[in-house]
Amino acid sequence: MASLFSRKPIADLMSEADNPNALRRMLGAGDLIMLAIGAVIGAGIFGAIGSAAAGEIVNGVVVRSGAGPALVISFLLLGFACALAGLCYAELAAMIPQAGSAYAYSYATLGEFVAWIIGWDLILEYAVGNVAVAISWSDYFKTLLAGMGMVIPPWMATGYRTALLSSDPTVHALMDSAPRLFGMPVLINLPACGIVLAITWLLVIGVRESARANNIMVAVKLVALTLFLVVGAQHINTANYHPFAPNGFTGIHHGAAIVFFAYIGFDAISTAAEETKNPQRNLPIGILGGLAICTLIYILVGFVLTGMVPSSTLGSTADPLSFALTSVGMTKVGWLVALGAVFSMSAVLLVFQYGQPRIFFAMARDGLLPKFAAKVHGKYRTPYITTIITGVFVATWALIGDANETYDLTNIGTLFAFILVCSGVVVLRYTDKDRPRPFRVPFLYVVAPLGAALCLFVMWGLPHKAWVRFGWWLVIGLVVYFLYGYRNSTLRTGKPPVSSE
Ligand code: ALA
Repeated sequence: MASLFSRKPIADLMSEADNPNALRRMLGAGDLIMLAIGAVIGAGIFGAIGSAAAGEIVNGVVVRSGAGPALVISFLLLGFACALAGLCYAELAAMIPQAGSAYAYSYATLGEFVAWIIGWDLILEYAVGNVAVAISWSDYFKTLLAGMGMVIPPWMATGYRTALLSSDPTVHALMDSAPRLFGMPVLINLPACGIVLAITWLLVIGVRESARANNIMVAVKLVALTLFLVVGAQHINTANYHPFAPNGFTGIHHGAAIVFFAYIGFDAISTAAEETKNPQRNLPIGILGGLAICTLIYILVGFVLTGMVPSSTLGSTADPLSFALTSVGMTKVGWLVALGAVFSMSAVLLVFQYGQPRIFFAMARDGLLPKFAAKVHGKYRTPYITTIITGVFVATWALIGDANETYDLTNIGTLFAFILVCSGVVVLRYTDKDRPRPFRVPFLYVVAPLGAALCLFVMWGLPHKAWVRFGWWLVIGLVVYFLYGYRNSTLRTGKPPVSSE
């Protein structure tokens, strides 16, 4: 029993991170802010925002209530919760600067069993999250093509689950009109699948996001959203702000639980701790500054969007920002925003599709996953096996999946990881008080419990179905752990970590 909770010594984590190409401390607070914006702004603000404002009704049953214009309060609440969790991430990241993110931190703090659960759980954040981003990417891509007079047959650009669950009668009718194979309607999202495969290929041959490319993407995102704000603000009809909170606090809560997706990714900047100059000062400025800027942009976008069209109309559209612009007659601007959205989401896909294989890689190196997963390509020097497995998994799911369902699963998994990180930082202050901490969370005993409680509260706003699926996901994870990881963990078997060649 005790061995389930054996912890990986932090010194080991440090030596693994200690490689001949030791990272240099080059990043300042401004760079971290740019990194955060690059990883964060994507499908959440371009796609999930619609369901958050309108709510979701499937087959006449209310799955979630919409926040309406009060969505701006959901964004504020999320910004605050993420800031608290972000500070906890920063303390762990600065003291354990190693690949594997929350997985590596929890191996050192809460033991192998919890680390496994987190590693397994992070698949929901990264791989399943990317399914949602790919589907939203495809929705905006269709708008782009339509603007150029090209139309993909709907059965080739709509996943089976989306048609099945859609409250839009035209989309739902695809269940009957699509071609059939063995009696089943053929409903596939080819653009979503295609973009994932293309990105997987880029990652196998070793394309990396450089700071320069990131800066360009951040500029594209900001230009697209500014365009939306400036043009949209001129078409606000104040009547749309009444009622401000059509479903009261429940709507704000449910809205927050889905649009939380828009904040996912800022935790990724904590992984740059090792490369940050003066982390005690720059990490909190980077994390909190990045979050503050994104929260402000989100509040403005939420405010303008819900002022342009009645919130209830945003539920059945997959590209709410372009939809709102088209509704007020600004079709060309809607097309330009769609172009920006497609670029923004490609960047998010790249970051997440890059992160997932590296978490698998760290787990395989520790013996918790089979060794072949830790293989590096002879020529390209990339973890190509895990990259391809991730790509095929995400592409297949994106082919038939539904965005809302995948947002929920990603959110519940990520919020759970945040809770474990908030707890881990407190545990480590007791179990390893003397370890140098380049960054310490101020007022830890307020920040960590409040961060965990708020994340739990947001999780609570997710539909029952998401909890059930999350429970099953964890059960499958436990079975895999006891059948494989428990027996093969290098920490327990005493075997040296597998070579990556
Ligand atoms: N926050 C990222 C997005 O919204 C995952 O696409």
